[in-house]
Amino acid sequence: MAQITPDMTISSVVDRWPDAARIFARYGLSCASCSISKSETIHAGATGHGGGRVNVEDLMRDLNVLADSGKLPDNLPAASATASMGGMKMRGMAEQKGIKHVIAVMSGKGGVGKSLVAGLLAVGLKRRGFRVGVLDGDITGPSIPRMFGVREKPPVAPDGKSLMPSFSRGAIPIMSMNLLLPDEGDAVIWRGPMVSGAIRQFFSDVQWGELDYLIVDLPPGTSDAPLTVMQALPVDGVVLVTTPQALAAMVVTKAVKLVKQLGGEILGIVENMAYVRTPDGSHIEVFGPSQGLKLVIASNAPLIAKLPIDPEIARLSDAGLIESYESPESEELIVNFLERAPEKHPQVAVA
Ligand SMILES: Nc1ncnc2c1ncn2[C@@H]1O[C@H](COP(=O)(O)OP(=O)(O)OP(=O)(O)O)[C@@H](O)[C@H]1O
Ligand SMILES: [Mg+2]
Repeated sequence: MAQITPDMTISSVVDRWPDAARIFARYGLSCASCSISKSETIHAGATGHGGGRVNVEDLMRDLNVLADSGKLPDNLPAASATASMGGMKMRGMAEQKGIKHVIAVMSGKGGVGKSLVAGLLAVGLKRRGFRVGVLDGDITGPSIPRMFGVREKPPVAPDGKSLMPSFSRGAIPIMSMNLLLPDEGDAVIWRGPMVSGAIRQFFSDVQWGELDYLIVDLPPGTSDAPLTVMQALPVDGVVLVTTPQALAAMVVTKAVKLVKQLGGEILGIVENMAYVRTPDGSHIEVFGPSQGLKLVIASNAPLIAKLPIDPEIARLSDAGLIESYESPESEELIVNFLERAPEKHPQVAVA
């Protein structure tokens, strides 16, 4: 007998089989993450939000494959065919604009080094010849422009309708709300719909040029703010950042759940501030022992880097010189990212 039936609530199914959220998302029911799902049955969800387009029979079959085997079925509807993670329209626009992959950097907790990892990814990929841009999705913080030492206001494009991004010293295009504010210190307090509107415009109305990767720095948290940004953009993959504190690890588990609910893929986990290197070469684990293994189990994604606390990072990012930072660990981050990434080699321009 089927373990999952249409009269069960979406949330009860997701609670018991967390991966079911991915199946719901693939069927266009990314509302598995919204509060309605607490009381909504699968049948109501599929016939309501799905606008009657959801094939309930197929959905039930796939859910029960998961319940019976513990594994996701092989032939789920393609992610691009659903309304999750930015939706079809934004995906189509990405193609039109020549932006191949949108990668979001996320964490549960604030201050763990999201912006740093977004910066290091961009810098490392650029060094390897990829075309990379950075979209600052944290509209309240100045981290990205500051780290890259960018102050120049994004100029209006020649068409008079769109904006050019600002460029870092190393020619990485960057767009941030902070660059549009009269004063760097001006905080923006906006409601969700305005944030999604702004983020969408950062994507659609900015002349990024052709990009292999657009790296998106998300705002902190596992609730509305990062969710709003992720839903506004056609995100392909997510890199999760944490520190070894148990608490941070727990919050990351929540982030993992959120990404799954949106039908997204976690490419890898970065453990930041994992240790301090002493002059004699040994490591001190300031924030306690690594939680890497726990995170790998919780997210089913690999640990792609363990970054030490490095005064050089703090110094260079404060000075706007993150592009000068080099370390074996940040190299490893790029190597491992590319192992998992959708695009493994830069397009070599033919002369
Ligand atoms: N491994 C590290 N070694 C030294 N300093 C670091 C390291 N990682 C981050 N920092 C510093 O810690 C501060 C917070 O980092 P960052 O801004 O990247 O975190 P965040 O997660 O983006 O924060 P927020 O949640 O506020 O957006 C920055 O000043 C950064 O330079
Ligand atoms: Mg940040």
